[in-house]
Amino acid sequence: MTPAETPVLEMHGLTVRYGPGCATCGRSGWVRCPICGTVRGCSSVDLEVYPGEVLGIVGESGSGKSTVLACANLDLAPSSGCVVLAGADVTGVGGSRRRRLRTEVLGIVYQTPQQGLELDLTAGGNIASRPLAAGWRSYAKVRERAFELQSAVELPEDRLDVCVRDFSGGMRQRVQLAKALANSPQLLLLDEPTSGLDVSVQARILDLVRRLQRELRMAMMVVSHDLGVIRMLADRVLVMHQGRVIEHGLTDQVLQDPQQPYTQMLVSAQLL
Ligand SMILES: Nc1ncnc2c1ncn2[C@@H]1O[C@H](COP(=O)(O)OP(=O)(O)OP(=O)(O)O)[C@@H](O)[C@H]1O
Ligand SMILES: [Mg+2]
Repeated sequence: MTPAETPVLEMHGLTVRYGPGCATCGRSGWVRCPICGTVRGCSSVDLEVYPGEVLGIVGESGSGKSTVLACANLDLAPSSGCVVLAGADVTGVGGSRRRRLRTEVLGIVYQTPQQGLELDLTAGGNIASRPLAAGWRSYAKVRERAFELQSAVELPEDRLDVCVRDFSGGMRQRVQLAKALANSPQLLLLDEPTSGLDVSVQARILDLVRRLQRELRMAMMVVSHDLGVIRMLADRVLVMHQGRVIEHGLTDQVLQDPQQPYTQMLVSAQLL
């Protein structure tokens, strides 16, 4: 990374409120406004991800990690602030431009396979949906790409034509990953890629993600409540608490010498 490079992703003052909002919510420090019930998803988040870099976001459940990722994937428009992809402001973008960005620039592995996969489709069908959305017309080429990806994510070849509903959690995450990589995204977004998996399966998936990221030199934003995942994958990390970024820095630095009491608590809890 050099300072002159344009970030793949920038977020400035990103704020998401779930609910109608009122004069009180803006001024109060509450996560849930006692007047109108609006919940703070995230507040004034600033971040950038440079080409080839992995940014981690860590924080406890409800701290706003998925909210930030949903804005990055253009699933959700922020209440205020902006989202910039490869130098272009894409805040609140809709229609065909949004579809194109999501298909060609972004790839995402969602927190649950149900969000990211059609469970009644085969693995190959799920993977193929991305090149097809990008306008590929040749069945042979799409099929060839599905085989390439199945091999890259180490999914057994004979599983390509099996319905994803019959897969284990680890296999489903591999299919999500293959699908996310299908159109060679500039930015790969990973939301808790290993939560709910057995420890040994987690380790294999994390190894795979790390290897692919290095081989493809892709920019990546990975969200996890697990510092082990962040330590393994991320160059830099943001720590979120109640929707706000409370600490950020190089991963090693933040984990070895956390400055904020909340980060210190997270680090010591996970060392136990
Ligand atoms: N659709 C929604 N409607 C209302 N509130 C929401 C919605 N989505 C998220 N929230 C709230 O916004 C806050 C941030 O949620 P978010 O899902 O971003 O957290 P998270 O850090 O990803 O948590 P987890 O680790 O449990 O996935 C939480 O208080 C959550 O309850
Ligand atoms: Mg989440």
